[in-house]
Amino acid sequence: VNARTPLIAGNWKLNLDHLQAVALVQKLHWALKDAGHEEGSVDVAVFPPFTDLRSVQTLLDADKIPFLLGAQDLSTHDDGAYTGEISGAFLKRLNVAQVIIGHSERREYHAETDEVVAAKVQAALRHGLVPVICVGETSEDLEKHGASAVPVGQLEKALADVPAGADVVVAYEPVWAIGSGQAATPQQAQEVAAKLREVVAATLGADTAAKTRVLYGGSVKSSNIASFMREPDVDGALVGGASLKVDEFAAIIRFQK
Ligand code: G3P
Repeated sequence: VNARTPLIAGNWKLNLDHLQAVALVQKLHWALKDAGHEEGSVDVAVFPPFTDLRSVQTLLDADKIPFLLGAQDLSTHDDGAYTGEISGAFLKRLNVAQVIIGHSERREYHAETDEVVAAKVQAALRHGLVPVICVGETSEDLEKHGASAVPVGQLEKALADVPAGADVVVAYEPVWAIGSGQAATPQQAQEVAAKLREVVAATLGADTAAKTRVLYGGSVKSSNIASFMREPDVDGALVGGASLKVDEFAAIIRFQK
């Protein structure tokens, strides 16, 4: 039996200013309420741009909306002369619970290496933030090495110096499936998710692996979410485009296995 509470996370990327963000969170909350969604059956997390965090946090607090607040990145540094960076300490002060680390868009457009990703994981844990560690293969990797080799290697490096028992989330996002409309098959997601869980077991311990949520991301929508959630090692989804549409994201959160 899978005792892990499903986690449905919306990565808004570079979309929605703080006014649009607040409107979307409010509408999503009401859409779920109207649909009779049972709070607590699924953890819902939203990852707005940095400039939206304060506004969204204020709304979540004021209206007692039970969504987890997440950030899309953080600095490896805690403070100092690092122009443009945002520290984990600042995020924690805003009640940010989770932080996406190593998204393929950051690896690709900001040259984030496995070393930088590992340092960011340490920075998140230092401040009591749950790192949502993203790993995934490009289509070239898939052809050359199969689906799991690259993500497994990325996760091993990200977790190398993390103490046993640490609270992390792993997101398997095949790069070719992101924003392409072509999701992985549930079988592929399961196969890789199971291997990633083995990496967690080897690095953080078997008990931790049993509790750690492994998400699938890449063209998740309301019409395919259930097929992923039926897989034993897939504990949720990291949703991009579909998390920007209230009804679609609400339907994903309300998936029925
Ligand atoms: O982090 C989520 C993302 O990369 C997936 O994007 O638009 O394919 O759901 P999308």
